[in-house]
Parts: sequence; structure tokens; C-alpha cells
Amino acid sequence: MKTQIVVPDSDSIAQAAELIRAGEIVAFPTETVYGLGANALDAAAVQKIFLAKGRPSDNPLIVHIASRGQLRELVQSISSDAETLLEAFWPGPLTLVLPKSKAVPDEVTAGGQTVAIRWPSHPIAQQLIQEAGVPIAAPSANLSGKPSPTRAEHVAEDLTERIPLILDGGATEIGLESSVVDVTGEEPILLRAGGISKEELERSLGRPVLVHSDAGETARSPGMKYRHYAPQAKLILFSEDVPLVPETENSALITLDACDSPLFKNHIHFSGSKQKMAHEIFELFRSLDKQGVQVIYVQQIDPSGLGQAIMDRLNRAAER
Ligand code: TXA
Ligand code: MG
Repeated sequence: MKTQIVVPDSDSIAQAAELIRAGEIVAFPTETVYGLGANALDAAAVQKIFLAKGRPSDNPLIVHIASRGQLRELVQSISSDAETLLEAFWPGPLTLVLPKSKAVPDEVTAGGQTVAIRWPSHPIAQQLIQEAGVPIAAPSANLSGKPSPTRAEHVAEDLTERIPLILDGGATEIGLESSVVDVTGEEPILLRAGGISKEELERSLGRPVLVHSDAGETARSPGMKYRHYAPQAKLILFSEDVPLVPETENSALITLDACDSPLFKNHIHFSGSKQKMAHEIFELFRSLDKQGVQVIYVQQIDPSGLGQAIMDRLNRAAER
């Protein structure tokens, strides 16, 4: 299959929407990372996503919507926590896990009784969903296990000849995925840290949000059990007080703040900005791999605000 990469305009968005309606899969930009979308109501189309990514079929997908009507069609009920959070953060980088309606195929939810839903803020994502006229199931548009794509070029690296079309909307704004919150029970549970911080969620709800590990059920968000986001290079996380001598000449050092590092020729820092780090970390993993770097040392950062999502991705990228 030939993969077309096109600049989004009214014609190419109409073409993408037509492919979605015809049961095909299409990559598109969101404010977090690029998604690989299919008609969420078409089980056969959704299966093509798993095939193209090499994704395990027990890992459910997020359904992207662009109206309240689509939300109502997909869920059985909307809890008051869900209502509060969607009022505060939609459209935006927040995914809510809700009880699914019969309209949602088992392929989307991996057979589960809940469905993850997000209303993205990116104008191209919104136009695509509106023109397709159906909700769009979409995981990140990378091969399973690879760093999530924050540019169309990254999607092309992973999925050329596996998908018909990539809408090239340039670099994504946030660079890390959405926060996933389970709002089906009495207590809201943060299943995956992401673009909206735990602190922001708690401020909006006016009470504490549990995190996945406190909740004690390791498989609540099935995707969390897989190794993820990994560069080919070996990734080593270190804390401030560990003296650092690189294992090989061919190493890179990543830190949040600028600092002295005479032993590293290749040192990348983000001038103390977690936003900048979130925006660039996945792209950096891909570019260090291209440079043939063998070992990447990353200094742990304080896990408040966006730091929690960044540390989550780093921890899972460092697992072997
Ligand atoms: O920002 C994002 O969320 C991006 C863009 C494209 O929207 N999407 C994304 O999808 O990151 P994906 O498939 O790479 O990650 C979805 C996460 C996985 O950890 C999955 O297990 C979890 O959401 N998930 C999906 N449905 C779920 C459900 N019903 N219950 C619990 N977790 C769920
Ligand atoms: Mg992903």
C-alpha cells in the first residue's frame, strides 16, 4: 500500500474523512501526539489499527469525539465527576473512562465494559471527526513499543506502506499523550498521567484523585503493563546524587536544567522547562537513535505537574 502524506486543507480532510467512512485507517495530528484513526463503530476497521501497529488486541483504544451527541451515543451514563472534568478540560488532553453503550464494538474496548473517550482540541482532529460523521478510535500512530509520534515524519518512519494517508499538521503542541481518568467508580482514578496534571484534576474536582498504583489493580488500564515509548538505545535513569561516568563514548545525556557535564560531548537540556521537555522527549529519542547513540542517560525530574507524565514515560522507556 502506498502512503500519502498530505498537508491538511479542506480537500485532504474530506479525503481522510471519506477513507474513515469507507473503513480505512488514517493518521492525523492531535494536540498531544499523532493518532491512527478508524471508524469506532466499525469493528473490521478497528482491527486494521491493531494490525498496522502490531498492537496486542487486549489493549483497548481511546474513542475521539467532537460533540456531546457522540458522547451520549457511546456511554451508558455520565457520572458527576465525569461531568465536572469534561466541563473543565474538554476539548483537550483528557481521556475519561466511562461505562460503554452497546454501540461500542468489543474490538475497541478489548472486550471490557468501559470505553475511554476524548474530545481533542486540535482543529484538524475536530474537522476530521466532524466530516467523517462518526467517532474515531485512535491510539498513538507509532509501531507498538516505539516512542509516540509528535510529527508526521515519525508516523511515516513507523507506518509507511501500512496505512493509506497521513495528515501532516506539523509538530504537536504537548508532545505527550492525554491523561486517562477512570470516572466509573466512587473515586476518580488517574490511570495514565498526561497532558492534564493530577494537581489540575484535583483542583477542578475539589478532592484527591487516586493514582493507578494506589488503586491496587495493576491491569485497570491494560496498556500500562506493556513496555513503551522506548528508543533502541539503552536508557538509564539516574538521580542527582549519582556520580556519572558514561558506559561508552557513544552516549548522550539528557537533563531538565542546564548543568556542567564535562564527560558528555552530547548533552541535551530543556532550560528547566518541563513543557519543553514534554514537547521534545519522544522526538529526541528518535533522533538519538538515528545518530546511533547507544546509551542515553536521563536525570530524573521532580514529578509534580507535567513531571509526573514525563517520569512515567521515562520509567517505562527504561524497562528492559
Ligand atoms: O493523547 C492521547 O491519548 C493519544 C491521542 C492520539 O489521542 N492516544 C493514545 O492512545 O495515547 P494509546 O492507545 O496509545 O493509549 C491509550 C491508553 C492505553 O494505556 C489504554 O490501555 C488505555 O488508554 N485505555 C483505553 N481504553 C481503556 C479503558 N476502557 N479502560 C482503561 N484504560 C483504557
Ligand atoms: Mg500509545
